Amino acid sequence: MEKVSELYRGKAKTVHTTSDPNYLILEFRDDTSAFDGERIEQLARKGMVNNRFNHFIMEKLAAEGIPTQMERLLSDTESLVKNLAMIPVECVVRNIAAGSLVRRLGVEEGISLTPPTFELFLKNDALHDPMINESHAVAFGWATHEQLAEMKRLTFAVNDVLKSLFDQAGLLLVDYKLEFGVFNGKVVLGDEFSPDGCRLWDKETREKLDKDRFRQGLGGVVEAYEEVAKRLGLELPA
Ligand code: TMP
Ligand code: ASP
Repeated sequence: MEKVSELYRGKAKTVHTTSDPNYLILEFRDDTSAFDGERIEQLARKGMVNNRFNHFIMEKLAAEGIPTQMERLLSDTESLVKNLAMIPVECVVRNIAAGSLVRRLGVEEGISLTPPTFELFLKNDALHDPMINESHAVAFGWATHEQLAEMKRLTFAVNDVLKSLFDQAGLLLVDYKLEFGVFNGKVVLGDEFSPDGCRLWDKETREKLDKDRFRQGLGGVVEAYEEVAKRLGLELPA
């Protein structure tokens, strides 16, 4: 399927329409953004790595019964996906304390969260993605109770699949953010799963192998993403 016109340019991906209104093309760019778009840099190979990574993870999730928007890989930097009506609420599960949880609650980074936490954020860069609760989402019409219950169920189902997948690769899945949309009346996983939207630490050394390398200026960002891919057995083009 071919790109017809640019529908939306996000911070790291561009969404294109196709000749079929039910399908879109996601183009992963090398742009890397942090702090709600305050800092953006181009990192060579990142679009290719994230496109391939996302396709690999979405296929694993689909194989475990999680509905995803992924149809197929089209090229190194493009994937064909279902055209979801996106829900502007981000779902975050945390297995280990890090990031905004540490800043917000003053807890120590690295402590285990048992059971894992579940949080909702409004997708709104201008407001810095504020934390919201279910009643906000329902009152403002961003999602229904039923949709939110399904989003929570699927977000935890993803945790079960991916915690063990990353564990086998010697990695800790610290936390991650998912976005959902509606397709034919059903809640479906959209957006992407890549090291841009999760935290992954080496199991032994706790070295950070995700976008915190960019946020914290640690360098070796794409190299870390490629290391994660390699450990998962995902072969990337040279
Ligand atoms: P946080 O610690 O900044 O709240 O983020 C938790 C996880 O969710 C972390 O892996 C980054 C991811 N995330 C995004 O990728 N984009 C977002 O807009 C938010 C709020 C979180
Ligand atoms: N995804 C957001 C941004 O690109 C937040 C972050 O990852 O720091 O600005």
